[in-house]
Amino acid sequence: MLQRLRALFGKASVKPLQMLDTDNIPQHIAIIMDGNGRWAKSRGLPRMAGHHSGMKAVKRITMAADRLGVKYLTLYAFSTENWKRPKAEVEFLMKLPQEFLASELKDLMEKRVQIRMMGYKGDLPDHTLKAVEDAIAKTANNDGIVLTFALNYGSRKEMIEAVRSIGQDVQDGKLSPGQIEESHMQQYLLTADVPDPDLLIRTSGELRLSNFMLWQLAYSEMWFTDVYWPEFTEEHFNEAVREYQRRARRYGGL
Ligand code: IPE
Ligand code: IPE
Ligand code: MG
Repeated sequence: MLQRLRALFGKASVKPLQMLDTDNIPQHIAIIMDGNGRWAKSRGLPRMAGHHSGMKAVKRITMAADRLGVKYLTLYAFSTENWKRPKAEVEFLMKLPQEFLASELKDLMEKRVQIRMMGYKGDLPDHTLKAVEDAIAKTANNDGIVLTFALNYGSRKEMIEAVRSIGQDVQDGKLSPGQIEESHMQQYLLTADVPDPDLLIRTSGELRLSNFMLWQLAYSEMWFTDVYWPEFTEEHFNEAVREYQRRARRYGGL
């Protein structure tokens, strides 16, 4: 059928969305948004221009995910290791949530997007935390796509915190070490009420996880592209979903 359509209309006129199986849309997509700096450098611009342009891609891809019917979109925005960057860059990045929300919250509200944050709030500057908490509160009752920003997030820290909580439960006599199950870890991770990602996307050509959702990605499909995040479009996003739909997920079975 698709081949006939292509023959009739030519490949370019077949919209990518029409080629997707609407019964097999990933419920949860996680993205490592990488390559802002290199995108800027390749155009002779400062790194900050790359981060700014990357913000536009956040809006674009949130809308694309919403159109597909994705239920959870989790975006890696700042890692626990990104504090190592020059102070000026960190300060710039910490201003982006405010700027993003000031310009986009209205449209996100219209789409009933629910904003969440996954990460450690304690180290964030007050102005960043305030902007994020304000957006979380305003969108808390929205029933659309759940858009989670991984901000000051690190998977190893997340797992250490979970292990500490389980240790406390053992000390309090709530369970013995022999009773510790996967479900105990799960309930103490920052994703306790979110299903594991079905699909992980990383842009910019890097083939690594950089401390992102190590537990939760155990059985996720992974898709990597050389495209830098600021130039990542809805077509690229749909291409990732199309590739996901070609995969057979076996979870160790047959
Ligand atoms: C991703 O782009 C954004 C953050 C990590 C905050 P980078 O800033 O890592 O861009 P590259 O990898 O240096 O090109
Ligand atoms: C991962 O990108 C973190 C985010 C996208 C927020 P990095 O650019 O920090 O990762 P490395 O340093 O290349 O592994
Ligand atoms: Mg990078």
